Amino acid sequence: MEPWSSLFDLKGRVAVVTGGAMGIGAGIATRLAEQGAAVVVADVDEKAGPAAVATLPHPGGVSHLFVRTDVRDVAQIDRLVETVVRERGRLDVLVNNAGIFPFAPALSVTPDLWNRVLDINLRGPFFLARRAALQMQRQGGGGAIVNIASIDAVHPTGSLAPYDASKGGLHMLTRSLAVELAPLGIRVNAIAPGSIATPGAAQAMPTAPGVDASQLMQSFLTRIPLKRMGEPDDIARAALFLASPAASYVTGVMLVVDGGYLLS
Ligand SMILES: NC(=O)c1ccc[n+]([C@@H]2O[C@H](COP(=O)([O-])OP(=O)(O)OC[C@H]3O[C@@H](n4cnc5c(N)ncnc54)[C@H](O)[C@@H]3O)[C@@H](O)[C@H]2O)c1
Repeated sequence: MEPWSSLFDLKGRVAVVTGGAMGIGAGIATRLAEQGAAVVVADVDEKAGPAAVATLPHPGGVSHLFVRTDVRDVAQIDRLVETVVRERGRLDVLVNNAGIFPFAPALSVTPDLWNRVLDINLRGPFFLARRAALQMQRQGGGGAIVNIASIDAVHPTGSLAPYDASKGGLHMLTRSLAVELAPLGIRVNAIAPGSIATPGAAQAMPTAPGVDASQLMQSFLTRIPLKRMGEPDDIARAALFLASPAASYVTGVMLVVDGGYLLS
């Protein structure tokens, strides 16, 4: 039996976290780095990305990397994986975390908004998972993919129709890829965060036209049995579990981390 201490050990592993410059992604990058992984933050934010990398722990002298990447662009996805392999030699863990959640009543959604949300939240994660899996196959198989979905994959918040469609799609994409990639020893799982305090969440709500932000937040809080918003680290702990040997027989699940919101 593997000793307990090795179950969360990521020494020698290389992990890519998209949207790792802030919020949930930065929290996940921190936990993976703490466990010894060499972390690559892939983000569009060229200021916050390197700043986040500079704060990551580096036990055993492991070094981390920022690669400017827009997940909407398949050429940039290819370049990201090529850079990771050139600079770090391999790829073991992919966390598809980058995502946007612009609130807009369904009747005001434009084709451009629809495309932007679906391209970042669903198309990007598929093409990056595909490219990462090809690399993992080249290495002889094995690896873990963690997709950051949302409770909106199964329960609409309201005024988030394209987002809900993208996260519902990401949930099913997780299940499809879990089946197809299992023969390569690649596990594919998702996390469904509830309401998490992040820069993106703080920014999205007050600017949404036609949405009463304080009412929405209040209705969220009163429905959370654990009576608090989540923190990025609440999601990072779940991501560490799914990315690590502790979850060696777990694939195709969506782990709900929402303080009990979906129960109420
Ligand atoms: N915060 C929540 O309450 C909550 C709840 C459920 C699910 N989620 C999901 O968690 C993930 C992270 O959310 P967050 O709240 O930390 O968001 P955030 O806005 O705080 O951070 C998102 C990060 O993604 C990056 N990003 C945006 N577009 C990108 C692109 N095209 N390519 C690469 N990087 C890009 C941003 O620069 C930023 O660093 C998202 O997928 C979101 O849908 C968040």
